[in-house]
Amino acid sequence: MNKAHQYQLENKQRYLDELFEILRIPSISADSSYSKEIINCAETISKNLRESGLDHVEICQTKGNPVVYADKIINSELPTVLVYGHYDVQPADPLNLWESDPFDPIIKKTDIHPEGAIYARGSADDKGQFFMHVKAIESLIKTDTLPCNVKIIVEGEEEVGSVNLGSFLKENTSKLSCDIILISDTHIFSNQIPTVTTGLRGLSYVEVELEGPNRDLHSGLYGGAVPNPINVLSSMIASLIDKDGKITVKGFYDKVIELTPEDRAELNKLPFNEEEFKKSIGLNDTEGEKGYNSLERTSIRPTLDVNGIWGGYTGEGAKTVIPSKAYAKISMRLVPDQNPEEITQLFTEHFTSLAPKSVKVTVTPHHGGNAYVLPSTDPGYKAAKLAMEKTFDKEVLPYRTGGSIPIVSLFEEVLGAKSVLMGFGLDSDAIHSPNEHYGVFNFYKGIETIPYFFKYYTENLKKKNS
Ligand code: BES
Ligand code: MN
Ligand code: MN
Repeated sequence: MNKAHQYQLENKQRYLDELFEILRIPSISADSSYSKEIINCAETISKNLRESGLDHVEICQTKGNPVVYADKIINSELPTVLVYGHYDVQPADPLNLWESDPFDPIIKKTDIHPEGAIYARGSADDKGQFFMHVKAIESLIKTDTLPCNVKIIVEGEEEVGSVNLGSFLKENTSKLSCDIILISDTHIFSNQIPTVTTGLRGLSYVEVELEGPNRDLHSGLYGGAVPNPINVLSSMIASLIDKDGKITVKGFYDKVIELTPEDRAELNKLPFNEEEFKKSIGLNDTEGEKGYNSLERTSIRPTLDVNGIWGGYTGEGAKTVIPSKAYAKISMRLVPDQNPEEITQLFTEHFTSLAPKSVKVTVTPHHGGNAYVLPSTDPGYKAAKLAMEKTFDKEVLPYRTGGSIPIVSLFEEVLGAKSVLMGFGLDSDAIHSPNEHYGVFNFYKGIETIPYFFKYYTENLKKKNS
């Protein structure tokens, strides 16, 4: 057993206790009333980084929530790995659906997690995951076995679109210079089938507003002769997807890159089980774009979904009213080479053209981001695959996920470095949902695996340069 792993085993309980301390801080970025907790969280992390033996620990101010930075530079000749994670979390609501306090972590055993899982908001997304890097690096520093230079940034605005991280990158390109970026903020296929994530989807997110009459109206006195914005909005939305599950926005698919038959076959090597998938989310049947299976529909194909729709009377009892306005939030997950701004533009034109003369439509864009693909020929992919094969003792397959981490494409643009998505969560972790949890097995497995990434990545580059 290597020295770092020995050290990890000796400090197992403390690693967990320290994670719990971070999980107790409700660092919710979407709600400004938690801004003190955001600062508290950044400070707690920087304290931990210092105690873990990292240098140049700094809380960097941005226009929004601070970025925590630290590094350990051992030799400028050696490669530098930049670790990225986020300490902000999603709001915990709906609170009544949590079986335990979202900010008071507890360990519970489940069928999938016989060794227990940590229940808390942020346990998997992303505190439990970025913290594996801190503890892996600590074990390497304390045993004097760190094989390369490491830098780490932990941001506090990922869940609200990383709005200020782009300028932070641009203003700190030399500080953040690196050969590769390593991120644990995704999941593996299962604990038995480890995977390296090779693709993320992009995102375009809009809010739409429809205005009919200039005030709410009595639905008896006016109903029948005036446009009801909720009725109109519903039929407009219904027309956005056709009977084959294709999105009808003009030009939507123009830039979509189809996978090569080889890449498609590689993805489908994963033993995706449609029946289990349905069962796990309580569905009798799935649906989606014709010609693709559920695994493909959730990873390599673009989608359009209404995330929320509101208007009119939703309180107790019945109120007879034709509302003046109706609203919806609509997201589109994108794939290479769809451009989020272009898609937002296409959506806006299409959606506006659908509206009858009787209503006024406004489309407001929210944050978005590009899709991302890591080729399996990349040295970072190879190092991650080797590292996971070493600690899981199983063949590692590439996995494309449907989620988005918009900053990843900016890393490439601004820092000129590829990102390796070596996450250790499971899709059943309930991230963004009540009862979010992260396997204790996954937490320790990540800490064990990360040092091998550093080792194999460094060895491979050394070989190339000699
Ligand atoms: N960590 C997730 C993204 C993720 C999770 C990717 C699992 C792949 C697998 C991240 O924190 C997240 O929630 N991203 C948002 C986008 C963001 C702009 C709010 C998303 O995907 O909805
Ligand atoms: Mn995340
Ligand atoms: Mn998230």
